[in-house]
Amino acid sequence: MTTHTIPTRQDFPADFRWGVSTSSFQIEGAGQADGKGESIWDRFCAEPGRIRDGSNALVACDHYHLFPQDLDMAQAMGVNAYRFSIAWPRILPTGRGAVNEAGLAFYDRLVDGMLERGLDPWATLYHWDLPQALQDEGGWLTRDTVAAFVEYTDVVTRRLGDRVKHWITHNEPWCSCMMGYWENIHAPGGTSLADALQASHHVLLSHGQSIPVIRRNSPGADIGITLSLHPITAASGSAEDAAAVKRHDGLRNRWFLDPLFGRGYPADTLALVGDAAPTVLPGDLEAIATPTDFLGVNYYFPEMVKDDPAGGPMRASLVEKEGVERTGFGWEVSPQGLVDLLTRVQRDYNPAVIQLTENGSTFEDVLTPEGRVHDKERLSYLQRHLAALKQAVDAGVPVKGYFAWSLLDNFEWAEGYLRRFGLAYVDYATQQRTLKDSGLWYGRFLNE
Ligand code: FCB
Repeated sequence: MTTHTIPTRQDFPADFRWGVSTSSFQIEGAGQADGKGESIWDRFCAEPGRIRDGSNALVACDHYHLFPQDLDMAQAMGVNAYRFSIAWPRILPTGRGAVNEAGLAFYDRLVDGMLERGLDPWATLYHWDLPQALQDEGGWLTRDTVAAFVEYTDVVTRRLGDRVKHWITHNEPWCSCMMGYWENIHAPGGTSLADALQASHHVLLSHGQSIPVIRRNSPGADIGITLSLHPITAASGSAEDAAAVKRHDGLRNRWFLDPLFGRGYPADTLALVGDAAPTVLPGDLEAIATPTDFLGVNYYFPEMVKDDPAGGPMRASLVEKEGVERTGFGWEVSPQGLVDLLTRVQRDYNPAVIQLTENGSTFEDVLTPEGRVHDKERLSYLQRHLAALKQAVDAGVPVKGYFAWSLLDNFEWAEGYLRRFGLAYVDYATQQRTLKDSGLWYGRFLNE
């Protein structure tokens, strides 16, 4: 099979997980309902100029109220797993201490709704919506937030741990830390590499410290963390560009993978970041390397880099490939990149299980007067990435599940509602959902 042959469900192992992926802030709305506290993303949206279309997520897809129909849609599509995230400020409006019963009750209803429909709940504890009250005390820059995360994890897993048997501690620390504290694109909005690295250390530490808590409260559960990873190639065959690939990979991928797999932070990357290196206390690296049950991988696009003395701390800069297919975001479409990435992760880290917890694309969608969305590029993207996934499975990579990003069009962070990633189109004025051709095809694939 090549990445051009469209696979069928029967081409995959019978016990493969087929899912859709979502996150709380991006779909729930109900931003101030039932005692929910403010999150850093609520605050960020309120800052002029932060969100490209000036929007916020106070209503978003109103999934908080419409979740039964969304779960019906997922069930009809034929998925057997549903990835969602829990909004920390709904549970602990000020980050720690007083528990908001109404917040827990919402996730009770949501999880029960999944179970009633035969959808296996995959819960992410942190998909970026930190309580603003904790940000006011330093956010991920302070070690106290690690303790607060463990407390929050305890509250959530005590309540849901009997029914949720798949837990993802964090979604994409690269984005919450590097884009949030250094690149100034995501909340809380910072410009310091040192801050980003300290934040990432605390995020990883909170992952490690929460694992025994989840194990205690959710017996038999599978636990993992989800990273956004990128296959990286060199702009030329030169030794300089090859060295630039290694440096860039150090911060982009190995910075997270190495400590999770017990190797500590990569020495070459630490040397390059110099004084920006995080404070690491005795025992931290052991906690971060606490064994998990799977590695969650989110794959969107590959990167190409060249040696560039002016290219930041890694002395590398990104090169735009010419003539390649791109999504509406400008991200390169590369099914082969998925094969390369998964093969690399297996070769270098050998996780027992990999779950592909996100993969998807955004394009300009048009809802026709007949109520159809002919999203042929997204459909082709999905089919070719499933073919790539199949190639990786056949090559012996232990990837056991695929979660399409996303069930619904939603609030795409700093891009607001300008980017549609859903298998279902959302008309934000009426909250009407319409399965796109890609979603209809995924349903046929799953029900075959
Ligand atoms: C990932 C995020 C997810 C969504 C997709 C498009 O980085 O995890 O929330 O924004 O990108």
